[in-house]
Amino acid sequence: MTKLSKPLCALLLLAGLATQSAQADELRPAGHNATWQKECGTCHVAYPPSLLPAASWREMMNTLDRHFGTDASLEAAQAKEILNFLTANAGRRAALDRDGKPLQRITETNWFRHEHDEVPARLWKDARVKSPANCAACHQKAEAGDYSERSLRLPR
Ligand code: HEC
Ligand code: HEC
Repeated sequence: MTKLSKPLCALLLLAGLATQSAQADELRPAGHNATWQKECGTCHVAYPPSLLPAASWREMMNTLDRHFGTDASLEAAQAKEILNFLTANAGRRAALDRDGKPLQRITETNWFRHEHDEVPARLWKDARVKSPANCAACHQKAEAGDYSERSLRLPR
């Protein structure tokens, strides 16, 4: 390495780190809502609002009595508060199924598939993972809304 290239390396490294943390910030819920954390974080981690667009959250909150095979109904006031929080912080990437209906699963969105295309098939079926929706099996800080590479630990 020549003397001249050292500062350049440092610069590139810093730029890289900045991009990484900017991405992580984007994924963290903008703001926080205690009702959402409590009611939507009991059966699974409270999935960050930014991971689905507003149309998906609206559809989901309208069908909580038929929520992935369970009844996750809420009192009207709580449901309204949570819906407002979710849509105010929703992602902007469209997420539609083949019929043009809003997707209900983060794990069926194109970006999710793309981000996870290197996860080996056997890992999705591993007893410690069970379901791709079980984010915390690999993302150690999913509970806190942190999906950065730094906190990624694959079961081995
Ligand atoms: C009574 C339990 C229960 C409650 C309460 C609950 N969920 Fe779920 N949720 C489930 C189950 C079961 C699944 C399917 C998990 C799987 O496929 O492994 C699920 C899946 C999801 C998924 C799709 C995950 C994926 O595959 O991408 C989202 C998004 C979701 N829930 C959001 C919510 C929100 C928002 C709330 C609060 C309003 C909530 N859940 C409350 C049981 C619950
Ligand atoms: C079987 C392990 C596993 C599970 C379960 C899993 N992920 Fe991941 N996730 C990964 C791997 C591996 C990557 C790719 C890291 C890389 O190479 O950038 C990743 C990347 C990501 C990224 C991009 C992170 C970044 O900074 O680039 C996000 C966001 C993410 N996952 C969210 C989720 C969510 C939300 C769930 C649950 C609905 C989930 N993941 C479930 C393993 C997993």
